[in-house]
Amino acid sequence: MVNLRFLPSILSSKVNCFRRCGGRGPTPLAKSSVPFLQRLKSSSVEEIMACLPFYTQGEIVKGFGRGSKELGIPTANLSESVVDSLPKALTTGIYFGLSNVDDGEVYKTVLSIGWNPFYNNTKKSLEAHLLHAFPKDFYGSKLRLIILGYIRPEMNYDSLEKLIEAINSDIAVAKDELDKSEFSLFYNDKFFSMPAKDGTGTLCNGN
Ligand SMILES: Cc1cc2nc3c(=O)[nH]c(=O)nc-3n(C[C@H](O)[C@H](O)[C@H](O)COP(=O)(O)O)c2cc1C
Repeated sequence: MVNLRFLPSILSSKVNCFRRCGGRGPTPLAKSSVPFLQRLKSSSVEEIMACLPFYTQGEIVKGFGRGSKELGIPTANLSESVVDSLPKALTTGIYFGLSNVDDGEVYKTVLSIGWNPFYNNTKKSLEAHLLHAFPKDFYGSKLRLIILGYIRPEMNYDSLEKLIEAINSDIAVAKDELDKSEFSLFYNDKFFSMPAKDGTGTLCNGN
Protein backbone atom coordinates (compact mmCIF):
# COMPACT_ATOMS: atom_id res chain seq x y z
CA MET A 1 0.00 0.00 0.00
CA VAL A 2 1.25 3.45 -0.82
CA ASN A 3 2.32 5.46 2.18
CA LEU A 4 -0.09 8.36 2.37
CA ARG A 5 1.36 9.98 5.44
CA PHE A 6 2.76 12.89 3.51
CA LEU A 7 -0.09 13.57 1.13
CA PRO A 8 -2.05 16.33 2.95
CA SER A 9 0.95 18.56 3.58
CA ILE A 10 2.28 18.03 0.08
CA LEU A 11 -1.04 18.71 -1.61
CA SER A 12 -1.23 22.10 0.03
CA SER A 13 2.38 23.01 -0.68
CA LYS A 14 4.36 23.81 -3.79
CA VAL A 15 6.36 20.56 -3.57
CA ASN A 16 5.51 18.34 -6.50
CA CYS A 17 7.34 15.10 -5.85
CA PHE A 18 8.17 12.94 -2.89
CA ARG A 19 9.83 9.64 -2.29
CA ARG A 20 7.93 6.81 -0.75
CA CYS A 21 9.36 5.70 2.58
CA GLY A 22 9.75 1.97 3.01
CA GLY A 23 7.21 -0.43 1.58
CA ARG A 24 7.51 -1.90 -1.86
CA GLY A 25 9.26 -0.51 -4.88
CA PRO A 26 7.55 1.17 -7.79
CA THR A 27 4.38 -0.41 -9.09
CA PRO A 28 5.48 -2.95 -11.70
CA LEU A 29 4.38 -2.01 -15.16
CA ALA A 30 1.77 -4.22 -16.71
CA LYS A 31 3.01 -7.26 -18.66
CA SER A 32 1.16 -6.13 -21.75
CA SER A 33 3.15 -2.88 -21.68
CA VAL A 34 6.47 -4.61 -22.11
CA PRO A 35 6.65 -4.64 -25.94
CA PHE A 36 5.99 -0.90 -25.98
CA LEU A 37 8.44 -0.28 -23.18
CA GLN A 38 11.11 -2.11 -25.09
CA ARG A 39 10.96 0.64 -27.69
CA LEU A 40 12.04 3.15 -25.07
CA LYS A 41 15.58 3.55 -23.82
CA SER A 42 16.02 1.54 -20.63
CA SER A 43 16.82 4.73 -18.70
CA SER A 44 13.38 6.11 -19.68
CA VAL A 45 11.71 2.93 -18.47
CA GLU A 46 13.40 3.19 -15.10
CA GLU A 47 12.48 6.85 -14.82
CA ILE A 48 8.82 6.19 -15.60
CA MET A 49 8.68 3.29 -13.17
CA ALA A 50 10.22 5.35 -10.42
CA CYS A 51 7.37 7.82 -10.86
CA LEU A 52 4.49 5.36 -10.62
CA PRO A 53 2.03 5.42 -9.04
CA PHE A 54 1.72 9.11 -9.82
CA TYR A 55 -0.96 11.18 -8.09
CA THR A 56 -2.27 14.36 -9.67
CA GLN A 57 -5.36 16.50 -9.50
CA GLY A 58 -6.67 19.71 -10.98
CA GLU A 59 -9.45 21.56 -12.69
CA ILE A 60 -10.92 20.12 -15.88
CA VAL A 61 -10.51 22.69 -18.66
CA LYS A 62 -11.69 22.90 -22.27
CA GLY A 63 -9.52 21.22 -24.87
CA PHE A 64 -10.17 21.50 -28.58
CA GLY A 65 -13.33 19.41 -28.21
CA ARG A 66 -12.20 16.89 -30.84
CA GLY A 67 -12.34 13.99 -28.40
CA SER A 68 -16.13 14.00 -28.27
CA LYS A 69 -16.87 15.33 -31.77
CA GLU A 70 -14.30 13.65 -34.03
CA LEU A 71 -13.18 10.60 -32.08
CA GLY A 72 -16.28 9.73 -30.08
CA ILE A 73 -13.89 9.38 -27.14
CA PRO A 74 -14.44 12.33 -24.77
CA THR A 75 -11.47 13.42 -22.67
CA ALA A 76 -11.07 15.55 -19.56
CA ASN A 77 -8.15 17.93 -20.04
CA LEU A 78 -6.21 18.99 -16.96
CA SER A 79 -5.20 22.63 -16.60
CA GLU A 80 -1.97 24.01 -18.01
CA SER A 81 -0.51 24.53 -14.52
CA VAL A 82 -0.84 20.82 -13.76
CA VAL A 83 0.70 19.81 -17.11
CA ASP A 84 3.58 22.23 -16.57
CA SER A 85 4.29 20.76 -13.16
CA LEU A 86 4.58 17.15 -14.36
CA PRO A 87 8.06 15.75 -13.74
CA LYS A 88 10.26 15.28 -16.79
CA ALA A 89 10.56 11.60 -15.96
CA LEU A 90 6.88 11.10 -16.70
CA THR A 91 7.58 10.99 -20.39
CA THR A 92 4.99 11.74 -23.05
CA GLY A 93 2.88 8.73 -23.93
CA ILE A 94 -0.25 6.77 -23.18
CA TYR A 95 -0.90 5.56 -19.64
CA PHE A 96 -3.64 3.89 -17.63
CA GLY A 97 -4.88 4.65 -14.13
CA LEU A 98 -7.89 5.46 -11.99
CA SER A 99 -9.72 8.74 -11.54
CA ASN A 100 -12.77 10.45 -10.14
CA VAL A 101 -14.59 13.71 -10.74
CA ASP A 102 -15.65 15.97 -7.84
CA ASP A 103 -15.30 13.26 -5.18
CA GLY A 104 -17.48 10.89 -7.23
CA GLU A 105 -17.07 7.24 -8.08
CA VAL A 106 -13.63 6.00 -9.15
CA TYR A 107 -13.38 4.84 -12.77
CA LYS A 108 -10.78 3.09 -14.88
CA THR A 109 -8.99 5.66 -17.02
CA VAL A 110 -6.71 5.87 -20.03
CA LEU A 111 -4.76 9.04 -20.61
CA SER A 112 -2.46 10.74 -23.00
CA ILE A 113 0.38 13.07 -22.02
CA GLY A 114 1.96 15.01 -24.84
CA TRP A 115 1.48 16.96 -28.01
CA ASN A 116 -0.98 14.77 -29.91
CA PRO A 117 1.21 14.32 -33.02
CA PHE A 118 -1.84 13.46 -35.13
CA TYR A 119 -3.13 16.99 -34.52
CA ASN A 120 0.28 18.62 -34.18
CA ASN A 121 -0.61 20.51 -31.01
CA THR A 122 1.81 23.21 -29.94
CA LYS A 123 0.95 22.92 -26.24
CA LYS A 124 1.53 19.79 -24.17
CA SER A 125 -1.65 18.40 -22.63
CA LEU A 126 -2.84 15.73 -20.23
CA GLU A 127 -6.12 14.25 -21.44
CA ALA A 128 -7.93 11.55 -19.52
CA HIS A 129 -10.70 9.33 -20.87
CA LEU A 130 -12.72 7.85 -18.01
CA LEU A 131 -14.33 4.50 -18.81
CA HIS A 132 -17.81 5.67 -17.93
CA ALA A 133 -20.57 7.40 -19.91
CA PHE A 134 -21.06 10.77 -18.23
CA PRO A 135 -24.32 12.57 -19.10
CA LYS A 136 -22.67 15.97 -19.61
CA ASP A 137 -19.37 17.86 -19.80
CA PHE A 138 -17.66 18.60 -16.51
CA TYR A 139 -15.57 21.68 -17.24
CA GLY A 140 -14.61 23.42 -13.98
CA SER A 141 -14.95 20.19 -12.01
CA LYS A 142 -12.04 18.63 -10.19
CA LEU A 143 -10.32 15.54 -11.56
CA ARG A 144 -8.24 13.35 -9.28
CA LEU A 145 -6.05 10.87 -11.09
CA ILE A 146 -3.64 8.11 -10.09
CA ILE A 147 -1.44 7.03 -13.01
CA LEU A 148 -0.56 3.37 -12.56
CA GLY A 149 0.98 2.07 -15.76
CA TYR A 150 2.45 2.99 -19.11
CA ILE A 151 1.02 1.60 -22.35
CA ARG A 152 2.87 3.10 -25.32
CA PRO A 153 4.44 6.23 -26.83
CA GLU A 154 2.28 8.83 -28.54
CA MET A 155 2.19 8.24 -32.27
CA ASN A 156 1.08 9.81 -35.50
CA TYR A 157 -1.41 7.92 -37.67
CA ASP A 158 -2.28 8.27 -41.33
CA SER A 159 -6.00 8.36 -40.66
CA LEU A 160 -8.48 9.29 -37.98
CA GLU A 161 -9.77 5.71 -38.04
CA LYS A 162 -6.33 4.37 -37.11
CA LEU A 163 -6.04 6.82 -34.21
CA ILE A 164 -9.47 5.74 -32.95
CA GLU A 165 -8.48 2.08 -33.33
CA ALA A 166 -5.29 2.69 -31.31
CA ILE A 167 -7.20 4.45 -28.53
CA ASN A 168 -9.77 1.64 -28.40
CA SER A 169 -6.92 -0.83 -28.07
CA ASP A 170 -5.49 1.29 -25.19
CA ILE A 171 -8.92 1.15 -23.54
CA ALA A 172 -8.92 -2.65 -23.80
CA VAL A 173 -5.41 -2.83 -22.29
CA ALA A 174 -6.45 -0.52 -19.43
CA LYS A 175 -9.58 -2.55 -18.68
CA ASP A 176 -7.56 -5.77 -18.42
CA GLU A 177 -4.70 -4.32 -16.43
CA LEU A 178 -6.93 -2.54 -13.94
CA ASP A 179 -8.73 -5.78 -13.10
CA LYS A 180 -5.46 -7.20 -11.78
CA SER A 181 -5.15 -7.66 -8.03
CA GLU A 182 -2.00 -5.54 -7.88
CA PHE A 183 -4.15 -2.47 -8.55
CA SER A 184 -7.19 -3.34 -6.42
CA LEU A 185 -6.20 -1.28 -3.38
CA PHE A 186 -6.00 1.90 -5.43
CA TYR A 187 -9.77 1.92 -6.04
CA ASN A 188 -10.26 2.79 -2.37
CA ASP A 189 -7.28 5.10 -2.09
CA LYS A 190 -7.87 7.91 0.40
CA PHE A 191 -6.62 10.34 -2.23
CA PHE A 192 -10.01 10.14 -3.99
CA SER A 193 -11.93 11.51 -1.03
CA MET A 194 -9.50 13.57 0.94
CA PRO A 195 -10.13 17.30 1.35
CA ALA A 196 -7.52 19.41 -0.38
CA LYS A 197 -6.87 23.05 0.34
CA ASP A 198 -6.18 23.90 -3.25
CA GLY A 199 -7.30 22.38 -6.50
CA THR A 200 -3.98 21.35 -7.94
CA GLY A 201 -0.89 19.41 -7.10
CA THR A 202 1.14 16.53 -8.41
CA LEU A 203 2.81 13.80 -6.44
CA CYS A 204 5.49 11.50 -7.72
CA ASN A 205 5.96 8.35 -5.69
CA GLY A 206 9.48 7.29 -6.56
CA ASN A 207 11.48 4.74 -4.60
C1 LIG B 1 -5.87 6.77 -24.60
C2 LIG B 1 -5.51 7.88 -25.55
C3 LIG B 1 -4.54 7.67 -26.50
C4 LIG B 1 -4.19 8.67 -27.40
N1 LIG B 1 -3.21 8.45 -28.33
C5 LIG B 1 -2.86 9.42 -29.18
C6 LIG B 1 -1.83 9.21 -30.15
O1 LIG B 1 -1.18 8.16 -30.21
N2 LIG B 1 -1.55 10.23 -31.02
C7 LIG B 1 -2.21 11.42 -30.98
O2 LIG B 1 -1.91 12.29 -31.76
N3 LIG B 1 -3.17 11.66 -30.06
C8 LIG B 1 -3.51 10.70 -29.15
N4 LIG B 1 -4.46 10.93 -28.21
C9 LIG B 1 -4.99 12.27 -28.04
C10 LIG B 1 -6.22 12.52 -28.86
O3 LIG B 1 -5.83 12.90 -30.14
C11 LIG B 1 -6.96 13.66 -28.14
O4 LIG B 1 -7.51 13.15 -26.97
C12 LIG B 1 -8.03 14.26 -29.01
O5 LIG B 1 -7.42 14.99 -30.01
C13 LIG B 1 -8.95 15.17 -28.24
O6 LIG B 1 -8.28 16.29 -27.82
P1 LIG B 1 -9.10 17.63 -27.44
O7 LIG B 1 -10.03 17.26 -26.31
O8 LIG B 1 -8.07 18.62 -27.01
O9 LIG B 1 -9.83 18.06 -28.67
C14 LIG B 1 -4.83 9.94 -27.32
C15 LIG B 1 -5.81 10.15 -26.34
C16 LIG B 1 -6.15 9.15 -25.46
C17 LIG B 1 -7.20 9.40 -24.40
